[in-house]
Amino acid sequence: MSNLRPETMERITTPELAAKFIDEQVKEVRAQVGDKKVLLALSGGVDSSVVAALLIKAIGKQLVCVHVNHGLMRKGESEAVIDMFKGQLDANLVYVDATDRFLNLLAGVAEPERKRKIIGKEFIEVFADEARKLEGVSFLAQGTIYPDILESIKAAEGKKAVKSHHNVGGLPEDLKFELVEPIKLLFKDEVRVVGEALGLPHAMVYRQPFPGPGLGVRCLGAITRDRLHALREADAILRDEFDKCGLAEKVWQYFIAVPDIKSVGVKDESRYEGWPAIIRAINTKDAMTATIEEIPYEILHKITYRITHEVEGINRVLLDLTPKPIGTIEWE
Ligand code: XMP
Repeated sequence: MSNLRPETMERITTPELAAKFIDEQVKEVRAQVGDKKVLLALSGGVDSSVVAALLIKAIGKQLVCVHVNHGLMRKGESEAVIDMFKGQLDANLVYVDATDRFLNLLAGVAEPERKRKIIGKEFIEVFADEARKLEGVSFLAQGTIYPDILESIKAAEGKKAVKSHHNVGGLPEDLKFELVEPIKLLFKDEVRVVGEALGLPHAMVYRQPFPGPGLGVRCLGAITRDRLHALREADAILRDEFDKCGLAEKVWQYFIAVPDIKSVGVKDESRYEGWPAIIRAINTKDAMTATIEEIPYEILHKITYRITHEVEGINRVLLDLTPKPIGTIEWE
């Protein structure tokens, strides 16, 4: 398959077109892979999940999925990946809890780009360690999609990136795999149609984007376990309330960021110092520019009440009103 989408390629918009695409890819993957094993880093994001489901259909247990929990996942996220792929799709899934490896390396590191570099590099190392333990793997599957290809063409033309985004790639020299990239000519909306046609749940296929460095770029400055825990709990409350009031279906991306500052509060008639939780909810088409969602005050009050009453260490809730530009979507 070439890296460029032929102009004649039909846009996949219906379950029928998705079924046709799936059939073609199943044949193509079987022809490429034969009886060899294929490795896949399964983050639980839309792209890697769709590739996993497609390859399970094509080659079953010849696919080895590795889910690396870097300790920066949202609440319940790794559990959901295990439940779906191991529990329901009977995948060959290796789960690696690398929380300590990541958090130990990140301790005391406050500079955003250094944090991103550490997370990206360690991710590759953890994944490579797992790959070396496995025998007979010849292929590496990746959830590359067409915008990634367009992005790398832009990068090759020398356009400067604002942040170093991390995606799996660039494995060490001793690990030489041939790539399997079954969705590399698809746009995101097509990936979702294919995902649903493969039987993945709507919530998984339409979930909001989540950055590779995870909560690491939302636990601002030097990450500590207690502030990371508070962030994860506050984020779970925001997601729960957005689910309940229907905003989850409408808003493109929404999350909490927790900065490394404390303010004075009062609780049980005593001084209570805590961090603020910052709500960010944005809409965008392509993540290059973004506008903020105007969340009704009634919902903001409810979220504020729950976060300040249920999350240890948070004593204020703030709302980020900044469009992109000038703010990027993530804080770091
Ligand atoms: P920014 O913060 O650059 O984010 O405005 C634009 C979109 O990209 C997501 N994002 C990432 N996605 N790896 C990813 O796969 C990354 O390292 C990364 N950093 C940011 C961000 O969540 C937003 O949707």
